[in-house]
Amino acid sequence: MRAAGGRGPMRPYRAPAPARGAPPSARGAAVLVTSRPLDEYCTSFGLSRAGLRGLPGPLLDCPGGAAGLAAEARALGCRVVAADPLYAAPPAVLAGLALAGRDAMAARMRSTPQRYPSARHLRHDKYLRSWDRARELFAADRAAHPERYVAAELPRLPFADGTFALTLSSYLLFAYPERFGPDEQLAALLELVRVTDPAGEVRVHPLHDGDGRRCPHLDGLRAALGRHGVASEITVRPAGGLNRRVLRLRAVRRRQGTPGPSGACT
Ligand SMILES: C[S@@+](CC[C@H](N)C(=O)[O-])C[C@H]1O[C@@H](n2cnc3c(N)ncnc32)[C@H](O)[C@@H]1O
Repeated sequence: MRAAGGRGPMRPYRAPAPARGAPPSARGAAVLVTSRPLDEYCTSFGLSRAGLRGLPGPLLDCPGGAAGLAAEARALGCRVVAADPLYAAPPAVLAGLALAGRDAMAARMRSTPQRYPSARHLRHDKYLRSWDRARELFAADRAAHPERYVAAELPRLPFADGTFALTLSSYLLFAYPERFGPDEQLAALLELVRVTDPAGEVRVHPLHDGDGRRCPHLDGLRAALGRHGVASEITVRPAGGLNRRVLRLRAVRRRQGTPGPSGACT
C-alpha cells in the first residue's frame, strides 16, 4: 500500500490480529477501499438518477469506502449518509488506502482482464479515471461535510429503526467471505434492514466473491432472513457486459430483538 499521498509499493489494507469476539472488520482478510462513482452504483444496482432524485427519504451507503456516491447523489438533491469503519481514520490515511484500492483494481484488471468486461467497454484507463474522480469528490465532500460520513461497522449501525428510504451495500458482504461467514452476513443484512424504512428497500451487490464465485449458501441465508420477517428477492439484469445480480430486502413485519441461534443460516 502506498503511504498516504506517497507512491511506495502496494500492500493491501490488513487489520490488526483479531480479538476473541471481534467484529468482522477486525479479522485478518484484506478489504480494499474502493471509490466507485455514482454511475457505477446505478449500473450495479439498477438505479437511475431520476429514481434517486425521487427518493422519499435519505439514502444509506454502507460501506461507503471512498465512493463518490454520497457527493454525487447529494448534488442531485438526495439526502445521503455514508457509513464505514474507516471514517474514524484521519483523511490522509483513508486517502492512502483508497489510492491503494485503485492500484489493486488496476493490477487485477491487468492480470485478469476477462473478469472485467464492464470496464473493457470503457477501456481500463477510462474506468480507473472514473474512480479517481469519485475519490476526489469523496475527499472534498467528506472534508466539507464530515457529518455525512459516519464511522460505523456492521453488524451494528448507529441509526434509528427505519431511518433510510434506500440502503445500498456494495462490495463487502459477499465479496469477502473470509470476513463475513453466513452468520455475520445474516446479522449484517438484518441490521441493514433494521435501519431501512419498511416501505423502503435494501439492495446488496455483488453476490459473489472477488474470484467470481457465487455465495454457496444464499438460499439458506434467504430462508433465515424470512424467519426474521425479511422478504428477499434476487434480480438479475444484464448491464455493462455482465449479469448483475442484486439481493433486495424488505421488512415484512417488525423484528423483535437480535438474531438468535434459530436464525442461523447454516
Ligand atoms: C470494497 S470497499 C466498497 C466501498 C464502496 N461501497 C464501493 O463500492 O466503492 C469495502 C469497504 O468496506 C469497509 N468495511 C470493512 N468492514 C466493514 C464492516 N464491518 N462494516 C462496514 N464497512 C466495512 C471497508 O473499510 C471498505 O471501505
